[in-house]
Amino acid sequence: MASIPLKKKNRAQPGKRSTTFLGQWSMFLRQFIKHPGMIGSVIPSSQMLVDSMLEGVDWQRTRLFVEYGPGVGTFTRPILDRLHPDATLLAIDLNLDFVAYLEAEIADPRLRIVHGSAADVRRFIKESGYAQADYVLSGIPFSTLPDGVGEAICAETRSVLKDGGAFLVYQYSGYMRRLLSPLFEEIRERVEWRNIPPCRMFVAMKRQILAQAA
Ligand SMILES: C[S@@+](CC[C@H](N)C(=O)[O-])C[C@H]1O[C@@H](n2cnc3c(N)ncnc32)[C@H](O)[C@@H]1O
Repeated sequence: MASIPLKKKNRAQPGKRSTTFLGQWSMFLRQFIKHPGMIGSVIPSSQMLVDSMLEGVDWQRTRLFVEYGPGVGTFTRPILDRLHPDATLLAIDLNLDFVAYLEAEIADPRLRIVHGSAADVRRFIKESGYAQADYVLSGIPFSTLPDGVGEAICAETRSVLKDGGAFLVYQYSGYMRRLLSPLFEEIRERVEWRNIPPCRMFVAMKRQILAQAA
């Protein structure tokens, strides 16, 4: 799917967040009612889940961070808060309403938002002027994707990660382990209970860096 350029005349000023917390929840709920399978959750992730997912990231080293399924920006904003001034955050969402919403809400030169599927991450990274990513973080509901799409996204993700990069995934079920296991030799799994519902967190590492570090 091609990325679609969006009008930016309603964009917020840098650093300004024009929508309230309740506004974000209501936007999220409306999209869930329209596309339950694509969204996979009634409410956005909790702040505790966001902090737990991002705590191990090496922000000094990171130059390209990719986010799949940013939704209303629950992770996007905290990632930008931590991201190096010279780095890029590439956010990819299949839902055009979320893409338009984020375009209007977040004005940050480090953020590039594209409309499309995570399955096309390789092309989006190339179009952003990069070859590989340091981290990919995913909020996509893998268990509701059409047959074969989850496997394709995971394989593409591994191929676009730098040696030493990591695929960070949060999911409500353990289904993800089956997709990650054939591709990533080292997978760490934890549960964040302070989320509705409690959420599994996976860190899938590219092996090469572990061998170098040993
Ligand atoms: C559970 S929501 C996560 C939203 C937000 N990141 C959060 O944590 O609250 C899932 C998101 O994945 C997006 N999505 C679903 N399938 C996708 C795909 N194949 N590629 C990119 N985004 C996708 C949906 O549009 C939605 O924004």
